[in-house]
Amino acid sequence: MKTTFGPKKIMFPCPTSLVVTGTMEQANIVTIAWVSLLTSQPPTLGISVGTKGYSGEAIKKNKDFTVNIATVGIMTEADFCGLRSGKDTDKFAETGLTKMPSRIVQSPIIKECPLNLECKLTDWRIIGRTNHFVGEIVETHADTALLGETSDIGSIDIEAFDPLIYIGGVREYRRLGEKTGDPYQIGNSLKK
Ligand SMILES: Cc1cc2nc3c(=O)[nH]c(=O)nc-3n(C[C@H](O)[C@H](O)[C@H](O)COP(=O)(O)O)c2cc1C
Repeated sequence: MKTTFGPKKIMFPCPTSLVVTGTMEQANIVTIAWVSLLTSQPPTLGISVGTKGYSGEAIKKNKDFTVNIATVGIMTEADFCGLRSGKDTDKFAETGLTKMPSRIVQSPIIKECPLNLECKLTDWRIIGRTNHFVGEIVETHADTALLGETSDIGSIDIEAFDPLIYIGGVREYRRLGEKTGDPYQIGNSLKK
């Protein structure tokens, strides 16, 4: 048996992302859980940013942003960035999170986030009350200390990273559990 609810915005898990737009002198952080990779060539992602806050207009003006993946260790700071607006709050100053220059785009990255994606705004449209921004990922930063022997981005130590997971609809923060299998392989064990 199933219970139906009609159209609901429930989706999980979501990465708790801190999106930064601006410059090293003046930048804002917004907490965004609605983020998704869109294409692989070129690497592109999409973020949904409400039309009422500060960040939507700022991204349109700046034409770039960075996506910084939060950890459980900065949960309180990450939540704060989703409770206050850049319209009247300097969220870098209030949280103590550290700006670092990006390599290609103007918008800084956040030092305390182990994974940082520099994005150039390539497209956007409004659906309902939300801006949908498409960003081409032009550079990727990862904490060197979290990389394995190969130093490849795919060798990143997920347990040490401890990403902050947002459970949309249920409204909980959680951390990841243990590894359960190897994608693109385990399915082959089903003999049919
Ligand atoms: C866990 C969490 C996830 C959020 N995800 C989104 C999101 O995906 N899109 C969005 O527009 N706002 C999201 N918000 C709300 C914004 O972060 C919030 O409205 C923020 O104050 C806007 O800041 P700004 O005015 O500086 O842009 C989220 C908030 C929290 C706490």
